Amino acid sequence: MAQHAGRGICLFLVLPQTTSQLANRQSIVCVVMNHVEGDNELPGYTPRLGATSSVAPLDTFTPGSEHTISLEDSKGHKWLLLSVKSRAPTSEFRPAFCAGDLISGSVILDISKSRSSKAIVVTVTATTTLVGQEGQDFLVIEKELWTPAMALPDGSMVPKLEKGHYTWPFEIALPNETEVLDRKETKKFALPPSFTERASPAYINYKITVIVKRGALRVNQTLTTDFAYVPITKPELPSPMLQKACKENLPFIGPEGDPEGWCILPSVTVTGTLFGAKRGNVDFNLALAKPLNYARGSAMPLWLTFTGTDEQALDLLANHQAIRVFLKRSLATGSDATSDCAGKHTDNFFVGTMARAVFWPAGDTSTTGKRVLRGEVTLKKTFKQSVVFPRFSVRYHLEVHPFEAVGFVHAPHVSGPLLTQPVNVTSFHATGIVMRSFAPPKYAEEIENFDNSVGLLENGNQRFYHHGGLGVS
Ligand SMILES: *[C@@H]1O[C@H](CO)[C@@H](O)[C@H](O)[C@H]1NC(C)=O
Ligand SMILES: *[C@@H]1O[C@H](CO)[C@@H](O)[C@H](O)[C@H]1NC(C)=O
Ligand SMILES: *[C@@H]1O[C@H](CO)[C@@H](O)[C@H](O)[C@H]1NC(C)=O
Repeated sequence: MAQHAGRGICLFLVLPQTTSQLANRQSIVCVVMNHVEGDNELPGYTPRLGATSSVAPLDTFTPGSEHTISLEDSKGHKWLLLSVKSRAPTSEFRPAFCAGDLISGSVILDISKSRSSKAIVVTVTATTTLVGQEGQDFLVIEKELWTPAMALPDGSMVPKLEKGHYTWPFEIALPNETEVLDRKETKKFALPPSFTERASPAYINYKITVIVKRGALRVNQTLTTDFAYVPITKPELPSPMLQKACKENLPFIGPEGDPEGWCILPSVTVTGTLFGAKRGNVDFNLALAKPLNYARGSAMPLWLTFTGTDEQALDLLANHQAIRVFLKRSLATGSDATSDCAGKHTDNFFVGTMARAVFWPAGDTSTTGKRVLRGEVTLKKTFKQSVVFPRFSVRYHLEVHPFEAVGFVHAPHVSGPLLTQPVNVTSFHATGIVMRSFAPPKYAEEIENFDNSVGLLENGNQRFYHHGGLGVS
């Protein structure tokens, strides 16, 4: 497992700016971690010396950089080089590609004596690896650059590579889909994002390899670089009213005034005992802004309405500290990973808490018999996008947990969540719209403190690697 801990991850982050600027141009940040030792050693904004880990800005529309790796002979001479152009911001970063990108680069052979090579081949491979099992390739693209039967780039034919300097440019188009065996059936799936996390039970790894093939009994020489792959997923636009609120920085209109904008979950009745004496009950309605797809690096808007006849019970429950709404992520790695009811109770299912929702009073909308709170879940830029792929899926859902308020006890006792709602996390923002955070700092801070300790909430091997504040803003 440890040998996988150093794979590159590319996260495309949109920096906060005004939405009008964003409509023109999205700034993107690429995080590449080659070496992760502990939560405290996460990459900050400053690349560390030795380029073991770094974060740097990257623009969708700039050409990016060229990354070169090489093989040296015993005298330290670089005789085989592989260069790859990609969106990675500087050459120290591993290459990074988005869906639809062309992988272009070159292979250079610089030899001081003739070689009995049989072929020079470039391959792009992608693999799902479950810890403790053989990796499974789901994408293999092979391109022959040279064999004795093929002309060199200058048009000449040679039976053998003599001393000299050879350059083969190449281009490989990444497909958007691949055919994979899923539960005994071959089906088409969108290429999944590369995925790596410390202590993860599974990985998705993409790499480019150049192979110098030699005679049957001689060892082939290979040069490999991992690369990050990011499928472009975006939420559809929210309702016109929510769009207007986002663009003009206005308070959101809740589900009552903008029914089109919100997905209202079924009403839940909470019954309990107040101050160990009287019984009380309150109904609540949680609404999530539609569509239920949210970009990482944005805030998922929530709206929570409490109704009831017991004012005291309303005050106890409609309190930001009493409300416990969590965003959870589940990783399924088994053969039923693509099934919506992926084996929740099997060894192949890993759930982690990613964030707690923050709530605050929604203006002056509260009246007798009713309390209204606005809320949001901050989706960190480092979150992984949702993906469903054979033997590997990442899903998110929101859970409303029992209330925790001094003077209130759920009766009868409630153990599990009161409500569960699946949501999706995308790699990019909706076109021209950023769902930014609106939480007042006083409330947001409390949640930040929670987020920093969230690792302790889910224990043992269920704990997900969680990037706390990357210092990227
Ligand atoms: C693959 O997806 C990208 C981005 O979604 C798109 O630009 C491209 O045209 C697609 N390519 C093919 C072959 O469908
Ligand atoms: C070198 O590669 C060729 C073709 O992929 C393979 O048939 C051969 O077994 C490899 N040689 C060694 C020694 O691994
Ligand atoms: C999440 O995305 C998948 C794939 O696009 C879709 O089938 C599913 O309905 C989405 N879930 C929600 C809650 O919108």
